[in-house]
Amino acid sequence: MSNLWDQQQNKIEVYLDDNKEPIAVYSPPARFELDTTTLDDGEHKLTVIAYSEDGKKSVRDVKFIVRNGPGITIQGLKENDIVEGKISLLVNAYGASAKEKWEPTTAETPSPIPSWIWVLFILIVAWSMFYFINQWNPPEEFANTPTYKKPQITEVTKEASQNLTAINGADIYRKSCSSCHQENGQGLTNVFPPLMSDDVVKAKDPTEHIRIVLFGLQGKVINGIKYSTPMPAWADQLSDEEVAAVVNHERTSWGNNAQLVQAKDVRKVRENRK
Ligand code: HEC
Repeated sequence: MSNLWDQQQNKIEVYLDDNKEPIAVYSPPARFELDTTTLDDGEHKLTVIAYSEDGKKSVRDVKFIVRNGPGITIQGLKENDIVEGKISLLVNAYGASAKEKWEPTTAETPSPIPSWIWVLFILIVAWSMFYFINQWNPPEEFANTPTYKKPQITEVTKEASQNLTAINGADIYRKSCSSCHQENGQGLTNVFPPLMSDDVVKAKDPTEHIRIVLFGLQGKVINGIKYSTPMPAWADQLSDEEVAAVVNHERTSWGNNAQLVQAKDVRKVRENRK
């Protein structure tokens, strides 16, 4: 009789674990409640067998794990760890099926502070020290002691770069000399002598060159020409560095290729005159 019923209708049998008797028999679709509290914690298997009207059957196993007991954490020992001597373990149990509501607080297990928090902490401390040192203004009476005095780097470089741009031989020549000797160093015939291929400018010993620029020149006959205008003196207008720069500009321009001078050479000539 039951066989006839089997073959005529769709039917679903539900088995738990390896039990021979089904825990439920339904005709599909079926919704039912499985009360896991009656099961032991651990692995279980639900087997659903479905029969079609012509008696064909299919089987589906679903393995699942019941855990109604408290959760367990162990710190200090992992699966397959190799240990020796005494080891210290932290064991905790949390959560239980008996409770209606699962409370997250009871699930908290003390754990070591993660290393990224330490890294963050160190970065913040380092940054705040950096910030503090940079922002801190020392008390007035200590402000200029070597310990607290801030290096005046910005001002020094500013001054240095001003000097650099100021001491440019070509600039000085253009400003102070080219009106007479001309930009191209060829002077003006019979009025201002050329400095291009000039004996004084090309001379290996630069003393005369420096002396003329510093103290001027008057009445000298250069290459057979007597110049009626004097060459002005620059000692009061140009520093040693500036004279050296403009002298070097003349010594290396318009095809001239004479030995260079330094500010200290200019200083020597200047001092000898005094
Ligand atoms: C106002 C015009 C004038 C200016 C500006 C002038 N010079 Fe002269 N310079 C002369 C004259 C003129 C002579 C020739 C003087 C003489 O022969 O007595 C001369 C001579 C010279 C000589 C010597 C040439 C030689 O063969 O003896 C040198 C070097 C020289 N000048 C360099 C300079 C430099 C460097 C500057 C700029 C810092 C300059 N001069 C600015 C007019 C000028």
